[in-house]
Amino acid sequence: VPLAPSPARFPVYPVSWYLFGRADAVRKRPVTKKILGRELVAFRTAGGRLAVLEARCSHFNADLGRGCVVGETIRCPFHHWQYGADGKCVQIPSQQDIPSFARQRSYPAVERHGYIYFFNGPRPLFDLPFFAGCRPEELRAGRCFPFVPNAPWYLFAANIVDEHHFLTQHSRRPTGPLDIDSPHPFARRVRFEAEVVGSSAFDRLLRRFVGDRVRVSVTCWGGNVFFVTGSFRRAESYIHVITQPLEPGGRTLVNVIVFLRRFGSRVLGALLEPISLWVRRIFTAAFLSGEFEELAGIRYNPHSLVAGDRLVTEFFEWVASLPPEGAATAAGPIDTPRTGEANPDNPVPSATTP
Ligand code: FES
Ligand SMILES: [Fe+2]
Repeated sequence: VPLAPSPARFPVYPVSWYLFGRADAVRKRPVTKKILGRELVAFRTAGGRLAVLEARCSHFNADLGRGCVVGETIRCPFHHWQYGADGKCVQIPSQQDIPSFARQRSYPAVERHGYIYFFNGPRPLFDLPFFAGCRPEELRAGRCFPFVPNAPWYLFAANIVDEHHFLTQHSRRPTGPLDIDSPHPFARRVRFEAEVVGSSAFDRLLRRFVGDRVRVSVTCWGGNVFFVTGSFRRAESYIHVITQPLEPGGRTLVNVIVFLRRFGSRVLGALLEPISLWVRRIFTAAFLSGEFEELAGIRYNPHSLVAGDRLVTEFFEWVASLPPEGAATAAGPIDTPRTGEANPDNPVPSATTP
């Protein structure tokens, strides 16, 4: 029986990209959200620059989300200190000199398909990924739908290599062994072919109109960002999943965004893409319904893995090798939040590159 890593070796919050929310929510004013055990504020400067900063002002801890954007800065609601998109204080109304502590931690931020993503470190360890072989403008995103399994993020992630669960949870019977590789040091990819064997109305419709076999590819980046493609005889499906731990070792927020290849014609696209996305969203929710229900209360025990869980055990080894927040990497130190969310149980792994 392979020896599985202790959960103390898993990052509390993977150093990766996260979904902040919809971009149109920050169109008019800054927005503060509680994410990864800290408060973050997102805003867009007058010049259009997107910023995600620590939300609590370095002066008296006021919430910058209650302030406003002034030119290229965000202004604190309390004493009107102003911070640039890089988090540096550039203006204190009452005095000339600006003390060195007057700065907010800033996070790399990107808008794509109407969503704001941020990286929880000073510099991204990898660019915001996408479906392999696709350019973002070729696909159109649907409305994101969330679910919150009572399961830690690494158990949710390990599902991608859990060959047994594809049949028991998703009614997809793999026709051969899973093909697992690592297209990037921060990514794990799983590919296989499967039969659609379910008896639900959705699976019967799929078999009848789309195909009874599917080639599946799932790539997991950083432990929490997923791109799933399914190639059926008559259609291609694109599912983007991005997770966020809600509490250490506990519940996980799972956001699902369904994508669609854009139609060649603009007019037809404007008409039919929203309908197609809506249908795909329903099928995707049905496909994931196993995960909605069955993950409740699952917990990881390194002593309970059996020989048949070899792929899962290897996946957990990879998870344990991901850098914890606060570790030094080739790109420089990774930030820990000021609010003391650093994980003292998380030793720096001897090799950070799997
Ligand atoms: S608390 Fe923000 S300026 Fe004083
Ligand atoms: Fe699954």
